[in-house]
Amino acid sequence: MLDTYIDQFTSQWSAEARKDFRQKPMAIRHNYHEHQAFSDMALAELLERHPRDMVDFCTMGEDATDRDSWRAGDPGDLTGMELIEAVRNGKLWINIRGAMNLDALYRPIYDSMMDDMKKADKTLRPGTAEAGILISSPTAQVFLHSDISETMLWHMRGIKRFRTYKPQLPYLRDLDMEAVLLEEQTEDIPYNPEWDADAFTVDLHPGMATNWPLHGPHRIENQSGLNVSVPFEISTPESRARNGVLFANGILRRKLGWSPETQSPYSLAGMAKRLLSKSIKLHKQLFGRKDVPMPCSEQTFDITKDAPDGFVDRKVA
Ligand SMILES: [Fe+2]
Repeated sequence: MLDTYIDQFTSQWSAEARKDFRQKPMAIRHNYHEHQAFSDMALAELLERHPRDMVDFCTMGEDATDRDSWRAGDPGDLTGMELIEAVRNGKLWINIRGAMNLDALYRPIYDSMMDDMKKADKTLRPGTAEAGILISSPTAQVFLHSDISETMLWHMRGIKRFRTYKPQLPYLRDLDMEAVLLEEQTEDIPYNPEWDADAFTVDLHPGMATNWPLHGPHRIENQSGLNVSVPFEISTPESRARNGVLFANGILRRKLGWSPETQSPYSLAGMAKRLLSKSIKLHKQLFGRKDVPMPCSEQTFDITKDAPDGFVDRKVA
C-alpha cells in the first residue's frame, strides 16, 4: 500500500530565504514537528532501539563562557520514557547520533527534508550527510562552536535561542578551525559575551529551521519546554574545499613553522593546499565526522529520574 503520510510534511522557502540559504543566517518555517515521530512515546522507543554507543548523554554549567563544564553521564538502565522525564525536569542534553538517516522510522523524514534543501538550492551537492536528534532540558545550553560541515537546524519542540556570529575574527580564528580539523580539539571555541551585540539571533519555536554560512560560530540557550531538534550536517564540495585549505595551513604551521594565509580554495595557492591535504591521506578521516573528538567522553554522573537536575554526580575515588 502506498504510504502518503510523509507527503503532508514540507517547508516554506521565500525567494529571499532561497537567496540567503548557505550565504547568510536565515530561518524558514516547516511542519515536520507535527509528525508523530517526534512525540515522547516515539522518541522513548527510539532511545531504546538506537545503538547505545551512538547516543551521548551530557550536562553543562550555567556560564556560557565555561565550555569545560560540558561533561558526560551514564543513562544506566533507565527506560526511554524515564530518560525523557529526566531531561524534561533536569539539565541534560541527549544526542541520538545518526537517528534521522539510520533509523527506518525517521529516514523518510530525513529524505524529505534533504529534498526540500536541494529544491531550495539547486547547487547543493551533498556528499556525506547525517542528522541526529537532540533532546534537551528547558534550561540546557550548547556552548559556542563551529561545525566542520554545512549545517541546518530543524526545530521540533520547545523554544531555543539561537545565535550565530560571522566566521571571521574576532569570533572565529583560523587557528581554532585548523585545530578542529587536525583533531587536536573539539568544535568548541572561545566565547566573549560582548559579541552577542553582533550576532544574528532568532528564537526557534516548533516548526522553524535555521541555516548559516559554513563554519559560522553559533551557540544555543534553551528558553522553555522539552527541546527536540534535528541538526543536519552536510559535507559539500564547498566545505571540503575550504577545509582542505585550512587543514594544509595547519600542517604548514606545525611542520614548517609558517604563518600561512587562508586563501580562497579556488585560487592557485588554495588548490595547491587542497592537493597537499589530499596527499597527506588524511582526507577520509577529516571529512567523515566520526573521528572528531567528542566533547564528552569520561562519564562523571548517573542520570537519575528524581534528582533535581536529572542526575547525580559520581563520587571521585
Ligand atoms: Fe552546531
